[in-house]
Amino acid sequence: MSESTRKKITINYLFKKVREGEPITWLTCYDYPTAYLQEQAGIEMILVGDSLGMTMLGYDSTLPVTMDDMIRHSQAVRRGAPTAFLVGDMPYMSYQPSVETAIRNAGRFMAEAGCDAIKLEGGAEMASRIEGIVKAGIPAIGHLGLTPQSVSALGGFRLQGKTAAMAKKIIDDAKTLERAGAFCILLEMVPDRVCQLITERAENCIIMSLGSGPHAHGQLLIFHDMFGLYPKFKPRMAKVFGNAGEIILNGLKAYHDEVKERKFPQPENWFGMPDDEYEELLDMLG
Ligand code: KIV
Repeated sequence: MSESTRKKITINYLFKKVREGEPITWLTCYDYPTAYLQEQAGIEMILVGDSLGMTMLGYDSTLPVTMDDMIRHSQAVRRGAPTAFLVGDMPYMSYQPSVETAIRNAGRFMAEAGCDAIKLEGGAEMASRIEGIVKAGIPAIGHLGLTPQSVSALGGFRLQGKTAAMAKKIIDDAKTLERAGAFCILLEMVPDRVCQLITERAENCIIMSLGSGPHAHGQLLIFHDMFGLYPKFKPRMAKVFGNAGEIILNGLKAYHDEVKERKFPQPENWFGMPDDEYEELLDMLG
């Protein structure tokens, strides 16, 4: 595989795609080799999501993830995908306590991990955090609908904005976040028609969909759901584009069996020593 020759993806590039009516591609990623592959595939945006708490670290929710976890993984992803538009996801309690906490932690993503923007969850109640971060010169992305850090308050991983009143609140929140300075908003698991209304009403804001239908400016998927790599469940909105989990499992079973049956390793898998050196070694050992 060759190195990427693509130019760095910028906010201007993303808005150009919106103007041209070309959907933007966005995936989660948490490690160097996967970032390398995503860069080769031409994926434009990469989210180092705090979902890594579940997909990579095996927690039951995203809540235990720390800023240090996020920075370590974001750095690895940046090394693998130097030109992608890299978004750092602000983990639980890294922005909720105060505007100052939010700015400091957003700054860490930019300074320590080379991110291009940050994302945080929440509606009007988080607008002051978005405003503070944007005023500090850091591009910010909002996240509405199903917001996993509030999954307990939302009553589980379920569709949001099903009733007119709930949908109106999400539409109002989107406008508030846009006015606070968010250049992009992710809508997770809201009805397609609500997503369409928000996209049509966006003036200077890129609307991205995760399970919210085709009318947004682009699509996001969780990498582990796309490739059968998260064993606990597969959300309905995720399409499996290839079952890497099954391929890896079959390979692991074959390795196990070949070692047990002494079929692995074969001479091409080890290194020999010249006869004269070996004889001399035996002499030295007496
Ligand atoms: O952490 C994450 O991957 C996310 C997605 C669920 C959008 O925030």
